Amino acid sequence: MKHFTSVKDIGPLDKAIQEALRIKKDKFTENELGKNLTALLIFFNSSLRTRLSTQKAAENLGMHVIVLDIQQGAWNLETRKGVIMDGDKPEHLLEAIPVMGCYADIIGVRSFARFESKEEDYGEVILNQFIQYSGKPVISLESATRHPLQSFADHITIEEYKTVEKPRVVLTWAPHPKALPQAVPNSFAEWMIAAGYPLTITHPRGYELDERFTQGATITYDQQEAFRGADFIYAKNWAAYRDPDYGRILSTDPSWMVDRKKMELTSNAFFMHCLPVRRNMIVTDEVLDSPRSIVISQAANREIAAQVVLRSILKTLQVANPSCT
Ligand code: CP
Repeated sequence: MKHFTSVKDIGPLDKAIQEALRIKKDKFTENELGKNLTALLIFFNSSLRTRLSTQKAAENLGMHVIVLDIQQGAWNLETRKGVIMDGDKPEHLLEAIPVMGCYADIIGVRSFARFESKEEDYGEVILNQFIQYSGKPVISLESATRHPLQSFADHITIEEYKTVEKPRVVLTWAPHPKALPQAVPNSFAEWMIAAGYPLTITHPRGYELDERFTQGATITYDQQEAFRGADFIYAKNWAAYRDPDYGRILSTDPSWMVDRKKMELTSNAFFMHCLPVRRNMIVTDEVLDSPRSIVISQAANREIAAQVVLRSILKTLQVANPSCT
């Protein structure tokens, strides 16, 4: 694996799952693989799970880890090309990225959709600049359009909890006070479809996702209908994707919150969410605190997903970067 930005990079999913389950049994069998190599984890946005789990996974493989929060201590970075830099951004990504590449063997980047330009967000302008200019393997720690480490961890979790070969999975929109990117639902849909699970996506009208991620899923505006017979319920909020409403909140309708009554429509489904989750907005305390909630297992599997990905890159790593000599 050279870069990891979507499900396409992981290779055959059954092999990736087997690898994850093997690593989970003993995380430290390859703790020399990353010796004297450095993972640089760059965050343009906040994180708890991604930061900790990726750092832990890299350390399990013997890597050094540097974490850089762009908002706290780094120069404010210009990301647009061709601009006159007379504002509050003293450094351009075009220099910052190759410099960071000189200090790292693998680079992880978190850069959310900004909702300023759909073209820029869905063109993955920042992530692609890291791939183009760093000279190093790049891992998405959640980009504008995808969160593949989360989706991989979700897939591992479903494999661990499922009781039928092809469980019925439902992705449901739920209300939230802020406008959130579509990265998690896009990526989850893409990954579940690649895994061959029957996927239903339910949301209010106006919240249709980009069809490039949802082709093969059943889409319905009837949440209760979607829940009937489901094995896994995955809740997530996202802002509108379609123009002219891109990035806008169209609804905060509390009737879309996941509660016990809706869960009773399912086939005793497990409840999933990527976290952080707003209690009693997205899901009731009762559901989140129930034995069918597997959100902590999902978070725990983030470490395993990151370790599978880092290990695969380390196995093929070309350390030399001529531009830094
Ligand atoms: N689920 C997830 O990516 O969590 P963080 O935003 O805390 O990293």
